[in-house]
Amino acid sequence: MLPSGSLRVGWRIEPCIYIPGGLSGTGSIAVQLAKPVFGVGKVITTLSTEKLAKFDELSAEGTAEQIIDHTKQDPATAIERNSVDFLLDTMIMAMASLNLMKKDSVIVTITGLPFGDSLAKVPLPALARGALGCMDAIKEWRASRPGVNIKFLFVEPSAEHLDRLRQWVNEGKLRPAVGRIVEFRRLEDVRGGCTDVFNGKGNVGKFVVEVIRDPTKLE
Ligand SMILES: NC(=O)c1ccc[n+]([C@@H]2O[C@H](COP(=O)([O-])OP(=O)(O)OC[C@H]3O[C@@H](n4cnc5c(N)ncnc54)[C@H](OP(=O)(O)O)[C@@H]3O)[C@@H](O)[C@H]2O)c1
Repeated sequence: MLPSGSLRVGWRIEPCIYIPGGLSGTGSIAVQLAKPVFGVGKVITTLSTEKLAKFDELSAEGTAEQIIDHTKQDPATAIERNSVDFLLDTMIMAMASLNLMKKDSVIVTITGLPFGDSLAKVPLPALARGALGCMDAIKEWRASRPGVNIKFLFVEPSAEHLDRLRQWVNEGKLRPAVGRIVEFRRLEDVRGGCTDVFNGKGNVGKFVVEVIRDPTKLE
């Protein structure tokens, strides 16, 4: 979850937000919280063809105004140019989406190589850090030309944030989507699920690894 206060970006009233992967592990939560929690006016997301039919069932009602089947249409052309106030980049598409962003808009990316302040959190040899630093500078300069602020975010585990998520679930603002559940002791299943997530081929919603399925039946 985004840390408290990170969405204070001088938004217009009821801004337009673009979150690709509307049924991905991260995207499914962000699209649902956008309106009831963050006061967003218009939500744009993407899905592949087979997931379109599942969206209404797995998300809260009225979650998104524009859903693009990214297997048939390129979001970079399907979304109106200069119309997006905030992009939560879950799919390494920040730079390809710059033409969609309004002046003084914000992109928060959680995917791809970390940059900016987040780079400091990754242990790296000096040479690699220097090379990534140069790539950052280019990325930030490219984004700044159309007036876009771009930031990388590492999501940090937080009991407080989990508790807030629990409250939003209880209040009916968030319907958690769980795609696949595997047992921790079945390492092949765990490896397969992690590989799918790594390759951007995750199922619907969260991939859950159960550490103990039924504590009364421990072998
Ligand atoms: N920085 C952090 O702290 C942090 C935290 C969590 C996750 N992440 C990263 O964020 C990314 C997303 O994580 P996740 O858990 O949401 O992944 P996920 O649940 O595995 O999402 C995969 C889904 O994304 C969709 N997708 C794949 N390629 C796409 C594309 N080009 N355009 C649109 N949709 C596409 C696919 O759904 P469709 O079938 O609908 O296409 C796929 O099922 C991963 O790279 C993960 O490593 C970073």
